[in-house]
Amino acid sequence: MNPLSQKSRPDPILTKDFDEPRLQELETYRRLGGYEGLKKALASGREKLMAEIGKSNLRGLGGAGFATAMKWSTVPSEEKNPGPRFVVVNCDESEPGCFKDRVLVTKNPHQLIEGLLIAAYAIDARHAFIFIRGEYEVQYKILEKALAEAKAAGLLGACSIELMRGAGAYISGLDTALLETMEGKKAWPRQPPPFPTVAGLMGRPTVVNNVETLSMLPHIVENGGDWFAKLGTPKSGGTVLFSVSGHVEKPGVYEFPMGVPLREILAAAGGVKGGKKLKAVIPGGVSTPVLTADELDTVMDFEGPRAKGSFLGAGGVIVLDETTDMVMVAHNIERFLTHESCGQCTPCRQGSFWHERILARGLEGGGTAQDLATLERVGENITGKVICALGDTVGVVTRALMKKFPEDFKAKFHD
Ligand SMILES: Cc1cc2nc3c(=O)[nH]c(=O)nc-3n(C[C@H](O)[C@H](O)[C@H](O)COP(=O)(O)O)c2cc1C
Repeated sequence: MNPLSQKSRPDPILTKDFDEPRLQELETYRRLGGYEGLKKALASGREKLMAEIGKSNLRGLGGAGFATAMKWSTVPSEEKNPGPRFVVVNCDESEPGCFKDRVLVTKNPHQLIEGLLIAAYAIDARHAFIFIRGEYEVQYKILEKALAEAKAAGLLGACSIELMRGAGAYISGLDTALLETMEGKKAWPRQPPPFPTVAGLMGRPTVVNNVETLSMLPHIVENGGDWFAKLGTPKSGGTVLFSVSGHVEKPGVYEFPMGVPLREILAAAGGVKGGKKLKAVIPGGVSTPVLTADELDTVMDFEGPRAKGSFLGAGGVIVLDETTDMVMVAHNIERFLTHESCGQCTPCRQGSFWHERILARGLEGGGTAQDLATLERVGENITGKVICALGDTVGVVTRALMKKFPEDFKAKFHD
């Protein structure tokens, strides 16, 4: 029995006030204690703030899981690199299976704005941006209104916050491609180093953080880094939001402490729809390799899925029942990645296209055994040979599906 499954579920952090009417409004948010964390952060000073975030084990919740305090600490000091520095909120959220940032912004925009102001204070940034995907029209308006309220109440201090809209490309959620877009260019990922914290927006030090990561900050400041760290597992502090979709009874966003077994997330979402048998779960959005129904004890923090060859990603749990054809799943994902490949790296541009074509041939009834070997070879020739993680994903997700569900593939690819 996994000891974590016996851990009593503590109160949620980010979603705790979600049932409160008019939570989007500043007055309600403040009545519930909002902006007290910012006040405390400003009073404590930068050094203490950084120490608390460090103690909290807060990891980036946009997908990569990079330690937040560590990222901030790589921003050069004002003496070493005088001039402007920026914080950018990544609200591009285009990973299929993920919708928690949309819910966070819709329900509680001030939680994000407060977190952003804390981050801006931490790295001494006077200019901040919220980059939001173009399709999030409603959320854009919610943020616009909340920002106006916060500004009128004098909460922004010396910091300006500008809203920017994306133009509907998955790749612009990748931090360096996002910065290119913000500069008015085509969203082509940059090849680091330098990393954005050293040379980001317009060549200046820039911290890019996810909506959920930043929304955690007011709570960490209010309750302390140790409190947050203890909620999670030794290397992943606090709680995490899971966007649960697919063949489940109650799709939606669920908040759990880091380290919750996948089985409990599925149970909270009411189990597999229509009482069918579970076939597989994609744990972190379509760019994370699939887990089988036998892997439901996987502990969901940044380490757990890794031990099974997958990732926590951005917590997009996609549930697939016994009727699902894994060749169709692979084709669907590869079609998306082919469409979204920016085209800069040849292995990704060509490799995603060939994945889609070969998988389509299998679905149309013309697949051969040789095709499976070709998929393996093409996949291996992409991973590690491209600038960004989109390309790496192309080979990895299909190979995981082929490895874990060989029967599905043999049924469509044979001589
Ligand atoms: C193809 C691709 C798309 C991404 N899309 C997003 C996104 O929509 N939102 C996000 O926060 N991070 C996204 N990321 C991760 C970002 O590059 C970056 O790691 C993240 O914004 C950092 O914030 P965090 O440290 O708070 O997680 C994406 C990465 C890749 C490779």
